[in-house]
Amino acid sequence: EKYASIRKGLLQWFQLHQRKLPWRRNHLPYEIWISEIMLQQTQVKTVLPYYERWMARFPDIASVAEATEEELLKYWEGMGYYSRVRNIHKTAHIVMTDHGGEFPREHGAVLKLPGIGPYTAGAVMSLAFNEDFPLVDGNVERVFARLFDIDSPVKEKENQKLIWKTAKELIPSGMARDFNQALMELGALICLPRTPLCGDCPVSGSCESRRAGIVDQRPVAGKR
Ligand code: ADE
Repeated sequence: EKYASIRKGLLQWFQLHQRKLPWRRNHLPYEIWISEIMLQQTQVKTVLPYYERWMARFPDIASVAEATEEELLKYWEGMGYYSRVRNIHKTAHIVMTDHGGEFPREHGAVLKLPGIGPYTAGAVMSLAFNEDFPLVDGNVERVFARLFDIDSPVKEKENQKLIWKTAKELIPSGMARDFNQALMELGALICLPRTPLCGDCPVSGSCESRRAGIVDQRPVAGKR
């Protein structure tokens, strides 16, 4: 089938080349949630020490709910986008009161939590619960723009629909946790913004823009 070699190539490459990152140590929804909120507007390298300090002080959702917002902010100070902290605090309270202290496992319930949109919900559902939900971040958009030779800006509505639909179809059933991370990792380590390392890419043989010799023209720049 048309996606078989992409699936196999990506999963094999990920097993060999993935970085050891602290939020990959276990699959707790609390840890996935916090890491993905941090990673949405902040680079991995910056997040690392913040993440470790946060988890040492706030090891579970109850400890977040019990803390003052002032203390949470102290542990976030320097990362910016402080509305993220307010939403984390609110969500922690809702999980304690409405979900018995357990992060909800149902996609609809996760999506209702403050500060959690389609991206973060997809992250928790796939990376924590290993359910077949797609996960598209900036790295994945770039990978898809090249792999499928998308000839207009990835942020355009039709392209977003196509990318999320394709990201769902690509998931090997029951493998969303590894597969979604493999896609993001490919974008972070190989399919780089300026100089993609196509010689090291496990799916270069399936890459439509490489076949056309126009990898350097993908993704198409958006209006700003
Ligand atoms: N960027 C966003 N989510 C990430 C993750 N889970 N691992 C590495 N980089 C990421």
